[in-house]
Amino acid sequence: MNVAVAKESFPGERRVALVPAAVAALVKAGLGVVFEPGAGLEAGYTDEQYVEKGARLAAGRDDVFAADILLQVRTAGANPEAGQADLPRMRSGQIVIGMCDPLGSPQAAARVAERGATLFSLELLPRITRAQSMDVLSSMATVAGYRAVLLAAQALPRMFPMLMTAAGTVSAAKVFVVGAGVAGLQAIATARRLGAVVSAYDVRPAVKEQVQSLGGKFVEMELAASEAEAAGGYARAMDEEFYRKQREMMARVVAESDVVITTAAVPGKKAPILVTGEMLRGMAPGSVVVDLAAERGGNCDRTRPGETIVEHGVTILGPTNLPSEIPYHASQMYAKNITTFLLHLVKDGQVRINEEDEIIRETLVTRDGKVVNPRVTELLSSQPSPSPQENV
Ligand code: NAI
Repeated sequence: MNVAVAKESFPGERRVALVPAAVAALVKAGLGVVFEPGAGLEAGYTDEQYVEKGARLAAGRDDVFAADILLQVRTAGANPEAGQADLPRMRSGQIVIGMCDPLGSPQAAARVAERGATLFSLELLPRITRAQSMDVLSSMATVAGYRAVLLAAQALPRMFPMLMTAAGTVSAAKVFVVGAGVAGLQAIATARRLGAVVSAYDVRPAVKEQVQSLGGKFVEMELAASEAEAAGGYARAMDEEFYRKQREMMARVVAESDVVITTAAVPGKKAPILVTGEMLRGMAPGSVVVDLAAERGGNCDRTRPGETIVEHGVTILGPTNLPSEIPYHASQMYAKNITTFLLHLVKDGQVRINEEDEIIRETLVTRDGKVVNPRVTELLSSQPSPSPQENV
């Protein structure tokens, strides 16, 4: 069987689904690897490096899509406009693996089903120990959390570390991280490495120890958060009254901080509003907010996804694709995740779709011309079907 690596076509996307170092494991498993010319260039991997590791240079995109298995970073719904051009290249008998935003763009999955391709969404991987090495959400959140701190440090008119110099003492920057999941914990660690004084809050009480182990201070709030943890370690959606109280209690910490990094999310839901324009008024001019929830609507009500704005003297960044800004390592981690998943799917050189296996069952979105994932079919039945042009 042949495995192909496509060049990403989403605007500004610099990652690649497979790096040269990951080719050998696939070849060893009896798979042929083919890649689109220039697929890894923007991430820092040359065509020669892929060839050296045993991959074949494809003649073009059609040749890539002719392979039995296609690996992508963003496919279907995760590449809503540019991805349309690839839809006619999808076909029955082909397996597509990547991030496809099936819960945000279920219609895109329906279009892939119409083409007959079998689609696996890596965002739907269950968060179980066995799947940890395949977990793209965790690896990309790690990169995003690190990058968020660098962006904040660059935008802030102050330094992060405390310095005692002949020219006087510079006080350390105060960083507040809201939401201490994978991205938040990496942001705490990175800000600490740069010398900032870091505090953090999360609705899941279990996180307190993790924050402290990274040298952060956990901000205690008298909120009834005991019910906040759902299955898989994710947060549960709370009611508006809870969020109102949380904003009230956070206002003082936000006002005292030089940098606020928000990462709070609830799977499948719009991000909760935790920082308001009113709260920003309390911050010193020059302060910075980095809203990592921007893609899901934002944790700050002033955030504009993909833009940087200044309000009440506070710079608000709403980045939507931070992993792509560190494409070398983001691709290396993604490649490890996707090859581990693929090798789990392949037995004796052949793909075995064993739906008894939780990892396979939960990530399988389309098969035999149908959307088969219950979470996606449920969304499709509650949404009117758009015209084919509206969404890939
Ligand atoms: P996420 O991206 O969905 O959410 C980020 C963070 O926001 C979470 O920690 C969540 O509790 C927090 N949050 C939600 N509402 C909030 C609010 N109102 N105020 C403050 N914080 C709020 O989640 P992420 O980072 O992808 O994962 C969350 C957790 O899932 C991890 O910390 C871990 O416990 C678990 N996990 C388990 C894995 C495994 O067992 N294989 C793999 C990855 C994560």
